[in-house]
Amino acid sequence: MLQIGLIGFGTVGSGVYERLTNTKEQLEQLLGEEILISAILVKSRQKQRAADIEAFVTTSWEEFCNSAEFDIIFEAIGGIEPALSYTSKWLEKGVPVITANKKLVAEKGQLLERLADQHSTYYGYEAAVAGGIPIINALKGTLTTTPISRISGILNGTTNYMLTEMIENHRGFADVLLEAQELGYAEADPTDDLEGFDAWYKIRILSRLCFGSWPSSNEFSRKGVSTIKDWHVEIGERLGFKLKLIAEAWQGEAKVNGSVTPAFLTQNEPLASVRGVTNGISIEGDSINQLLFIGPGAGKEATANSMVEDFLFHERTRHSQRSLGTKAEQRKESFTHAFVF
Ligand code: NDP
Ligand code: HSE
Repeated sequence: MLQIGLIGFGTVGSGVYERLTNTKEQLEQLLGEEILISAILVKSRQKQRAADIEAFVTTSWEEFCNSAEFDIIFEAIGGIEPALSYTSKWLEKGVPVITANKKLVAEKGQLLERLADQHSTYYGYEAAVAGGIPIINALKGTLTTTPISRISGILNGTTNYMLTEMIENHRGFADVLLEAQELGYAEADPTDDLEGFDAWYKIRILSRLCFGSWPSSNEFSRKGVSTIKDWHVEIGERLGFKLKLIAEAWQGEAKVNGSVTPAFLTQNEPLASVRGVTNGISIEGDSINQLLFIGPGAGKEATANSMVEDFLFHERTRHSQRSLGTKAEQRKESFTHAFVF
């Protein structure tokens, strides 16, 4: 019996619960054993929960920890603490942790991956970047040694949804933001979306996978959609440009550079046609020319699907895969060599 613990039961956590429950039979067949969602950790005692949750729900960390011998933990609470302490605890016990928490991965990913390596387990964060697009495991897997010169993308679903609605349907900022929050796309504190933090965490994670080292917080610049004025929108429309929040990282002469900023795209740039909550990612390199990934960037089902697939990816590959740290170093070497020659 494979015992599962859920930390967080909001948009994403409840999505994971539903995905696991709805596809239980198929997952059990694939894994060769029964699965059981043993316990769920939440914050609020007051919040009404669905009556049909078949798991022990608690607001006590101690009760949660003592409730089962977990084989896998899904973390969907967001932020640094207490997510960092909770994640560390399970990784130290050798229990894999799957997360959608891009802030934690961008700021503490190096530490947590090292911890996972030391304890021969897995810290999976496929869902942390571009919700439903399987970009992380593509970069860790089939693109491991592919030399990459630039990665760019629309990585925040909330603001792309807002920009699309404001420009195409002439809706107001506050009205569309409220809708994005109601649809479960926005962060608990939407400042993270509006000031570009969310896209900035995501591009730092992608940069580490493309170029081999974790950028520190002061290395990549950041501007959010809050800097956009009405006249930007009007001029863009009149001249036929598409206004997008673009995150990118590229290999410069001496170092990797990165930024998040609103930008005007010409109509023929592939990312210009990415509308609504959809995300788009472009990867460039000599041997691949340009790869494009387009798909849902936020929302319950897409994100939960990524988390469950991430867990299955780990289960399928855990006997054959080398540690991510080693792979990242390999990528760095292969990338440097590509330029030397
Ligand atoms: P929500 O605010 O909807 O849910 C957060 C959940 O975590 C709630 O169940 C809350 O409990 C619980 N929680 C918060 N703090 C604590 C704590 N200290 N102890 C125990 N439980 C806690 O957030 P989302 O589901 O939208 O997001 C979760 C994570 O997923 C974030 O890192 C976010 O960035 C990421 N993400 C979100 C996506 C989305 O589309 N929403 C897409 C991709 C990633 P309670 O129910 O009691 O309030
Ligand atoms: N708030 C985030 C977004 C959630 O809108 O893209 C998905 O990471």
